[in-house]
Amino acid sequence: MTPFHYQNGKLYVENVSIEALGREEKTPFYVYSEQKLRSQMRTFTEAAQKYLSSFQICFALKSNANLAVIKVLTSMGAGADIVSGGELLLALRVGVPADKIVFSGVGKTREELTLAVEKEIGQINLESAEEAVMLEDIAKKAGKKVRVAVRVNPDVDAHTHQKITTGKKENKFGVAWREARSLYRNLAASENLIPVGIDVHVGSQLLETQPFDEAFKKTAAIIRTLKEDGIVLETIDIGGGLGVSYQETDKPCSPDDYMKVVAENLADFGCRIIFEPGRFLVAPAGVLVSRVVRTKHTETKDFLVLDAGMNDLIRPAIYDAYHAVKAVKEAEPSRLYDVVGPICESSDVFGKARKLPEMKAGDLVVLETAGAYGTSMGSNYNFRPLCAEFLVNGDHFAIVRKAQTFEEMLSLNVLAPWL
Ligand code: LLP
Repeated sequence: MTPFHYQNGKLYVENVSIEALGREEKTPFYVYSEQKLRSQMRTFTEAAQKYLSSFQICFALKSNANLAVIKVLTSMGAGADIVSGGELLLALRVGVPADKIVFSGVGKTREELTLAVEKEIGQINLESAEEAVMLEDIAKKAGKKVRVAVRVNPDVDAHTHQKITTGKKENKFGVAWREARSLYRNLAASENLIPVGIDVHVGSQLLETQPFDEAFKKTAAIIRTLKEDGIVLETIDIGGGLGVSYQETDKPCSPDDYMKVVAENLADFGCRIIFEPGRFLVAPAGVLVSRVVRTKHTETKDFLVLDAGMNDLIRPAIYDAYHAVKAVKEAEPSRLYDVVGPICESSDVFGKARKLPEMKAGDLVVLETAGAYGTSMGSNYNFRPLCAEFLVNGDHFAIVRKAQTFEEMLSLNVLAPWL
């Protein structure tokens, strides 16, 4: 049985009815299936085990920063891929061992780098020569030796949405190969920075293995050249990017296909492979539950107006992302609706011409495959609170993040003394 399924005409998450959750908590809210989180992590881990002798999975916290979600994955051996000081503190708070934390990002500040040095995290992925200079200074002052990798820009087309492509040379990420080689030479001569690894991230929501293959071939060539320079690496961080199916036409490569490509290109170096998956681990494990505020019929269309908006799930608005919409009460789909939120923006649309049963105010719907980049990209736009999150495990459910209250939202506002 899949974690999200109909039972007696109602949609369930594992053994918990979504309608029952809707009686507990104001909509909209997110629900995660612990079994699905675990099975995604298991699938990824088992595929890696099949092809690689040494690896570390570092969950990309940016995809979902919920403490309970992180805890489930880290309890199964995941470390953390972080991109901010906040995520570093979060990882440590959940109990991720510092040596299982890798830190990427083009704009790490002096404060963030200082914190990472102080906490002695596993690896800092450098994205520029300028960052290396800053980190060297911090490490020297702290009297520490810091493990670093250079994030190289593979200049590969990921065939994914333009806004989530990261590995083209015109993107801000990583260092071009010509520059990377001299950066590695400088690092090799540094007293405080130890070049232990190389890092490459091609993009997100990749459905084919070909861009990975191309990027890993380039990475392998770089590793060989570094060897000639006398630099022998310990880790190869290959980022995240493995895609998931949001709709039937999405046919993502399997973790097995992906691992085969990883192993073919990179296993021979005897390095520990670091993975930074986000979406694959959490996207299929979460749904956004929302209530129909009203149906609105115009001359040309039927609109389904939900109480969830782009502040709760922004992916359709900014990446034209597809999230399937399902009615919680099972019935034959008979009408086409444009499914929209209440936000005052024309882009607050979850889906156009979606076939659903006849719906009425008060009915519940779910937006599927919303476990990644859903809540983590949530905002207070239109002065709306961040919504609650549930975790379900078998018959059990718990609120794992409370909805923000109006007072909490207001509490950070302070009037200027002259007003
Ligand atoms: N590592 C690095 C360096 C990254 O930049 C990313 C994602 C990941 C790992 C995790 O990638 P994943 O396995 O989740 O594909 N907000 C967008 C996705 C942005 C991805 C940014 N980087 C979305 O909702 O589709």
